[in-house]
Amino acid sequence: MFSDKDIARFANLETPFYYYDLTLLQKTLSDCAAAAKVYNFHVHYAMKANFNPAVLQKIKTVGFGADCVSGGEVNKAIEIGFDKKQVVFAGVGKSDREINAALDHDIFCFNVESIQELEVINELAAKKGKVARVAIRINPNVDAHTHHNITTGLDENKFGVNSWDLPACADTLKNSPNLEFIGIHFHIGSQITNLDVYKNLCVRVNEFAVWFEERGFIVKVLNVGGGLGIDYHNPEQQVPDFAAYFKVFQDFLEVRSNQEVHFELGRALVGQCSSLISRVLYVKNGKKKNFIILDAGMTELMRPALYQAYHKIENISKLAVADALKYDVVGPICESTDCFGKEVELPETFRGDLIALRSTGAYGEVMASHYNLRENIVSVYDTEG
Ligand code: LLP
Repeated sequence: MFSDKDIARFANLETPFYYYDLTLLQKTLSDCAAAAKVYNFHVHYAMKANFNPAVLQKIKTVGFGADCVSGGEVNKAIEIGFDKKQVVFAGVGKSDREINAALDHDIFCFNVESIQELEVINELAAKKGKVARVAIRINPNVDAHTHHNITTGLDENKFGVNSWDLPACADTLKNSPNLEFIGIHFHIGSQITNLDVYKNLCVRVNEFAVWFEERGFIVKVLNVGGGLGIDYHNPEQQVPDFAAYFKVFQDFLEVRSNQEVHFELGRALVGQCSSLISRVLYVKNGKKKNFIILDAGMTELMRPALYQAYHKIENISKLAVADALKYDVVGPICESTDCFGKEVELPETFRGDLIALRSTGAYGEVMASHYNLRENIVSVYDTEG
């Protein structure tokens, strides 16, 4: 992925930084948009994956909407110029202040996660003399077969309304004059690589749509969430197979002529377009283990510490891996979980070498923290993008 020119350029820059390949991002977005267009599917970008302004600008330009999970994200989407009619606001804990601001913006829809939340939105909309469009996030009890920390579609998860609460939910909708029901919403988890999981989701979506229709509701929107995974082990596999993904929904969802199908993709759109570039501060060769200590740590990329997530580690100062040694690659933070990989095979590595942690475009920069009073991480962009 990195040309000699890139590496020469990085050598003159202070580390660590997030490097963004906006050319690759553009290609990924165009591929996704083209694959969705075949079936007239609508894509909202799940902004939580990455809200770097340069990334958001590109995403807005392909015409995707924005899926937001906080007042901050709603404001940012509107500030960047996403069409308000394509902004949705999800999240299990929307505050009154956030709901009021979203009502003022007149966003497309609230994805509502509990009956109490419906009551609150109805009340706040009434005070403003408005009618809020809502979709109900339903917990479909479909196993996403992904890391347990990022699975969200099983019963008794904190997210969404469970099936046994739907009758009460329907009553609340019927008794709430300041709510307009527009559809149903699902999101079963993230980093899903087995597309069969989505077939199971479609079966449940069809059942729930019928359930609402039988009770006199018009289900205009079927929002099936996001979750499409990327290949962390093979970052050169840069653009996910969007055509295969959308085809599952085309084949297994029962879509009426008046219905729209909405997606909320995050990781699949931005995951491969970035790497965290870091420098080796020290190499400690021990009796049993060798350590590489980087100038980036869990404060810059939290996923390995939080989910034991794998990000491919490359010594980009020395790409040949002949005579590989094994290293534990760690950061400078005072936590033993501040480790990017154990027993990683790399060419013999020295202080000053540049190390790339690949596939960091999703949930990388956005999850950075200031723990240990670390400085803000900076972003660097490709020259063509
Ligand atoms: N829609 C909803 C309601 C969500 O909660 C999420 C992600 C998405 C869409 C987008 O999912 P994606 O297409 O990106 O998989 N920090 C974790 C991932 C958390 C995902 C949270 N929800 C990680 O680093 O793996």
